[in-house]
Amino acid sequence: MGTTSSFINYSVSKIDGLSSFFSYCKYESVDSTNEILKDLANKSFPEGTLVHALMQSKGKGRSGKAWYSPKGNLFFSILLRPKVPISVISQLSFVASLAVRQGLVNITNNMNGFIFKWPNDMLLNNKKISGILLECSPTNVSNVPDWVVIGIGLNIFESPEELDFATSLNEHGYFVDLNILIKEIANHLEKFYKDWLINGFENIRNIWLKYSHPKGKKISIVIQNKKIEGKFNGITSDGSLIIKLFDNSTKVISGGEVNLI
Ligand code: BTN
Repeated sequence: MGTTSSFINYSVSKIDGLSSFFSYCKYESVDSTNEILKDLANKSFPEGTLVHALMQSKGKGRSGKAWYSPKGNLFFSILLRPKVPISVISQLSFVASLAVRQGLVNITNNMNGFIFKWPNDMLLNNKKISGILLECSPTNVSNVPDWVVIGIGLNIFESPEELDFATSLNEHGYFVDLNILIKEIANHLEKFYKDWLINGFENIRNIWLKYSHPKGKKISIVIQNKKIEGKFNGITSDGSLIIKLFDNSTKVISGGEVNLI
């Protein structure tokens, strides 16, 4: 464990109502909950290990960006060990997105405000409130990774001031108990994860599409320094983005940052 972490608690199901699938580890402050959990994963900690920190000194976002991590916001990571090939692992970020949304809906009773932005951002009234960072181990000879870490960051108390496309729950008048929110998200993640293991991606994909920005929404995406504009046209059976260009051709994109126009 890094010297920047102070370990204040570790117990199974310490959060009331948290499924026994999870082993809950709580830290005062860490560099990044993903980094702590990757270390535990390499030390053979079991599937379901959940690391929560009250703040992060080096919170990581997607594409090498930093993740704003002050006390009061929510940062946690969950360890999974699905025996599936690397080619389908990115579907787990959709699994986690569904859990984040369901947790937020249950706790706020806001059924319509939370929508997905591809691939795994959660928007509240069109501003980003949550992000997911998925990392996994190198694969074995069968192309199966040993572990997957799903990191979830949620702006509860405040969002980064310099980003006018970000928001927080408090800015919208929602004041929530972090433990209840963790429990709601984690328990739903277990449910969607087990459904995905048994039935595959189709059901997850359909639910995601139901609550994403609508088809036809104008979007832009930057790929290799080139900006592409078009209309959102759904996601493929493996989660890639389908964009309809203004010349009516379609393009399938597997990675990048989408902006809603
Ligand atoms: C994104 O860029 O949208 C992904 C943000 C993911 C942030 C979370 S906070 C908990 C976990 N630990 C990290 O360092 N990052 C993820």
